[in-house]
Amino acid sequence: MSDPDLPRESQSEATVRSYDALARAYAEHLFHELERKPFDRAVLERFEAGSPPGPCADLGCGPGHVGRFLAGLGREVTGVDLSAGMLEIARQLCPGLSFQLGDLRALPFKANSLAGVAAFYAIVHLDAAGLGQALSEMGRVLVPGGSAVLAFHVGQQVVRVEELWGVKTSLEFSFFEPEAVLAALSSESFEIVECQTRRPYDADVEAQTERCYIVARSRGKREGARGI
Ligand SMILES: C[S@@+](CC[C@H](N)C(=O)[O-])C[C@H]1O[C@@H](n2cnc3c(N)ncnc32)[C@H](O)[C@@H]1O
Repeated sequence: MSDPDLPRESQSEATVRSYDALARAYAEHLFHELERKPFDRAVLERFEAGSPPGPCADLGCGPGHVGRFLAGLGREVTGVDLSAGMLEIARQLCPGLSFQLGDLRALPFKANSLAGVAAFYAIVHLDAAGLGQALSEMGRVLVPGGSAVLAFHVGQQVVRVEELWGVKTSLEFSFFEPEAVLAALSSESFEIVECQTRRPYDADVEAQTERCYIVARSRGKREGARGI
């Protein structure tokens, strides 16, 4: 039984603790995943080509492979993650990229400073309120005309994961309906460039969930507004 006098760990703290523990196994399993995901590579290529010139960020970067792919297309990329353990692995695996500890809901960037933000499976640990904060922050840091690309699992459920690749975790994965994310983007002054869903690749490539990919363009946001 838990001690009632001890402060309860928040889900956000549990997420960080889980990814710190998971970092090495995560990288072993997923660092090269884009090689087997042509759909995802094509979305990232269109996102990059449609973004104005300038630096990009890979938000919730994990081991950094999405940012590394964008850097391979010629972008200057900074990876951001809430897990120091993930960032340690990312720095080892992606020596040419810069990385920063930070929260999607309070991004460590100045207003109007980025041409693009990629958030691949990064919003998956946020609830609806957190999603709104994260999208607001993306709108704040993007230059007007800058692009965001989001990838997430389709649905309405929250799935608890207590173990992954042999590592004990305490993770909650939020699934989202595309319509809900599109509406949240529109209310943060984004225009939708594309929204596509796909069936999962084979089970040895990824979890068997339907996936959604959205590219959106910022119309610009008033100076000073922050997510949280
Ligand atoms: C499912 S992984 C996705 C990693 C990578 N983008 C990918 O596509 O494989 C989620 C990542 O988001 C990070 N994360 C979770 N909540 C976050 C938050 N509020 N702010 C920044 N990063 C967060 C986790 O530490 C983890 O590295």
